[in-house]
Amino acid sequence: MGGKGGVGGWERNLAPLSPHTSLSPHLPTLPPPPSSQIAIEYSPQALVWGWAMTSVINVNLPEQSYEIAIAPSSLDRLGQHMASLKLGKKVLLVSNPTIFKHFGKRAIASLTSAGFDVASSTLPPGERYKTLNSIQKLYDVALENRLERSSTMVALGGGVIGDMTGFAAATWLRGINVVQVPTSLLAMVDSAIGGKTGVNHPHGKNLIGAFHQPRLVLIDPEVLKTLPMREFRAGMAEVIKYGVIWDAELFAQLEASKRLDQLRYVKPELIDTILTRSCQAKADVVSKDEKEGGLRAILNYGHTIGHAVESLTGYRSVNHGEAVAIGMVAAGQIAVELGMWQKEDTERQNALIQKAGLPTQLPAGVDIEAIIQALQLDKKVKSGKVRFILPTQIGVVTITDEVPSDIIRHVLRGI
Ligand SMILES: NC(=O)c1ccc[n+]([C@@H]2O[C@H](COP(=O)([O-])OP(=O)(O)OC[C@H]3O[C@@H](n4cnc5c(N)ncnc54)[C@H](O)[C@@H]3O)[C@@H](O)[C@H]2O)c1
Repeated sequence: MGGKGGVGGWERNLAPLSPHTSLSPHLPTLPPPPSSQIAIEYSPQALVWGWAMTSVINVNLPEQSYEIAIAPSSLDRLGQHMASLKLGKKVLLVSNPTIFKHFGKRAIASLTSAGFDVASSTLPPGERYKTLNSIQKLYDVALENRLERSSTMVALGGGVIGDMTGFAAATWLRGINVVQVPTSLLAMVDSAIGGKTGVNHPHGKNLIGAFHQPRLVLIDPEVLKTLPMREFRAGMAEVIKYGVIWDAELFAQLEASKRLDQLRYVKPELIDTILTRSCQAKADVVSKDEKEGGLRAILNYGHTIGHAVESLTGYRSVNHGEAVAIGMVAAGQIAVELGMWQKEDTERQNALIQKAGLPTQLPAGVDIEAIIQALQLDKKVKSGKVRFILPTQIGVVTITDEVPSDIIRHVLRGI
C-alpha cells in the first residue's frame, strides 16, 4: 500500500495547522547551545557533581512566561527561586511517600529558610491514584491550611504528582500558583512543562483536566540518582520522541552514546544535553501553541497507539513511557507503509528505543481489535477520525487523520 500514496498524496490529507507551523526542526547544531533562549552559567558546584552547567530556558507565553531552571543541587535553592518570584507566603508541598522520604526535608528546609509557611501532603504513588479522590484530599488540606489566591502548590514528584498538583492548583479558588519540581526523567523533560494538568476518568486517561501554567519549573538532575531504572527508561522514550519530532541533533547525540538504558552508563554531559535540548524542544512547541491549536499535537507522537496500549493493560503492566515506545514503533511503521518515511530511519528510531531498554513489541495478550476500538475513545479523535503524528524524516513530523484502519491493523500484526 505505501510507496505510491506517497508524501504528496498524504500531504493533501493533513489536518490543518496554524500558519506558523512548518513542522521543521529548528535547533542549530551543538555547540553552541540549542537556542538563544538558553542562558548558561558555569557553576563550580555543578562541576563537583559532574554536570557542567546550569541552564535557564524560557517558556514564552502571552499571559505568563516562566523559566525552566536546570541545575544540580537546585532543590536546595527552591525557596530562593520562589522568593524571587514574589509568591505569597503560604505553600502546600505535594509529593508521594517515596519521593517525600528522599527529598521532602530538603525542599521544606529550603522553603522555610526563604520565609515560606509550608504545609505538606502526600498522595499514594501510581497512575491508579491519579483520580478526583486524590484531588479532593488536596482540597481538604488546602482548606485546612487556608491557602489563599496568592498561595502556591509545589509539585515534588513525577508526572502523576505534577499533573494532580497542577490540576488542584488550577481549580482551588479558581486558580492559585503552582511550581513544578519534577523528580522523574519523564516529568523533567515533558510533563512538568507546558501547563497540561489533570486526572484520569475510570473510562479514560487524562479525560478531566485544565491548562494551568507553572510559575517555575526547577530541575535538579541529581534527584535522578534514586529514580528506578524502569522509570529512567520510560523518560528516555519521551527524549527519543523529541529527537524524532523536532531535534535531529539530539537524535544523533543519542545514537552516539553507547548506552541509554541506565543513568549510570550515560555520560553526565549527555544527561545535560538530554535535559536541556528536550526542555528547549517542549518550550519551543508550547511557546508557539500553548493550547494545542495545531503544532502542539506533535508532542503526541507515539501516544495514539501508546494510550490505547496503556489503557488495555490497565495502566499496570506497561508504563507510560513503555507504551509511548511501542506507539512510536507503530507510528514509524505506519509512516513507512504510507511511503512517507524511509525504512532505514524507522530502523534507526527502533534501535534507539531498544538501546534505551524499551519495548518495541506489543505485550502478549493485547488484542489488536481492542486497540482499534480504544483508538476511538482517545482525546485525539476528531469527528470520529483518529489523528496520527507521523515522521517524514528524523526531526520532522506531520499530522494526519487519514490512516486507514487496515494499515493500522497490518502494522500492529507485525510488531
Ligand atoms: N502534563 C503533561 O503534559 C504530561 C506529559 C506526559 C506525561 N504526563 C503524565 O505523567 C505521568 C507519568 O509520569 P512519570 O513517568 O513521572 O510517572 P510517576 O509520576 O508515576 O513516577 C514514576 C515512579 O517513579 C517514582 N519516582 C519519581 N521520581 C523519583 C525519584 N527521583 N526517586 C525515586 N523514585 C522516583 C514515583 O514514585 C513513581 O513510583 C502519567 O500520568 C502521564 O499521563 C503528563
